[in-house]
Formats: sequence, C-alpha cells, structure tokens
Amino acid sequence: MDQPDEVLKKVAAEVSVCQRCQLSFSRKKAVPGEGPANAEVMFIGEGPGFYENEQGRPFVGAAGKFLDELLQRAGLKRETVFITNVVKCRPPGNRDPLPEELMACNDYLERQIQAINPLVIVTLGRYSMARFLPNVRISDVHGKARWLDGRMIVPMFHPAAALHQPSLKGAVVEDFSRLGGYIQQARQN
Ligand code: URA
Repeated sequence: MDQPDEVLKKVAAEVSVCQRCQLSFSRKKAVPGEGPANAEVMFIGEGPGFYENEQGRPFVGAAGKFLDELLQRAGLKRETVFITNVVKCRPPGNRDPLPEELMACNDYLERQIQAINPLVIVTLGRYSMARFLPNVRISDVHGKARWLDGRMIVPMFHPAAALHQPSLKGAVVEDFSRLGGYIQQARQN
C-alpha cells in the first residue's frame, strides 16, 4: 500500500494532466487540493473559480478569504486541514458542475478521502453535500453533524453563496462556530 502522502502526490499529478471530461479543455490550471496527508478535517467545495483556475490552488479568491475567517472561527488553522473540491477544474463562467463532470472526477476525490481517512468531512455547498447525503436539502441539514461510514459529516452552506446572500451569512458563521465542538466530539467518539 502506498503511503498517504504518496497517494495524494500521485492524484495531484494525474489531475494536473487529466482529460477525463470537457472541463479540461477550458481550464488553465487544475486544482487537486492541498493540505497535509494526516489532516483530521477535510473541506470539500464545489469547483475552482477564477482565481483558483489561475493559481492551481483551492479557495484563494473571495470565497477563500471568507473560508479563512470561518476556519478561524472554528479554531482551525488552514495549514492543518485538507481542502479540495468535487470537481478539480473550473466550470466555465463558474456554472454548476454537470453530472458527467462530477462522475468523471469522483475517483480522484475518493482516492483523496481513502488516503487521508479524515475523522471529519465538512461539505461546502449542495454538490459536495450530495456526494455524501444525496437525499437531503441543505436548508434542512446545514450545520448539523452526522456519522456516515465511520466519520463525521458536517454539511455547510457554500461560503460564496453566503457572501452573495446576506441571509445565509449569519447561518454559515453560526454553523462554523459549532464546528470546533463537533470535532472535539468526533475525537472522543
Ligand atoms: N469555490 C469552490 O467551491 N471551490 C474553490 O476552490 C473556490 C471557490
């Protein structure tokens, strides 16, 4: 069995030259994700936006700045968590990812999860949530932790959605304030 950090490097190398779906034709840089292989907490967003596509790094634009604030609120340092997306290449114009794009990219995310084996997965937005909890509505379950296959899943509103809809901003801030406590709970489980 390969070491987790080797698996992550291999996935990143494959993602950088991936042509499994049409997003590869319009992307500038693929964004495999980043963080330590032994991260306890994994954040999974939707897909790269404009700045992520330029830099090849996740959550570096406006939503990323807000995520940094939210991580602080949860008592987490960005460099200790793993951050990635359900699709690793930018959908043109930041449109929603298509089912075939999600499917084509799923194996990369699956290998990242298996390698890191995080105690807690925080999903950011509907598409990431649906990967784990297909039949729920984010408005019903956001900020509530549940156990799935031996790990804690915490669905959150997407930070970008919260930036655009002031009514969601308070909810996401409050949800992240509870995240530190959930992580403690998961450690004790
Ligand atoms: N939004 C996402 O879902 N992911 C990013 O990496 C940036 C913005």
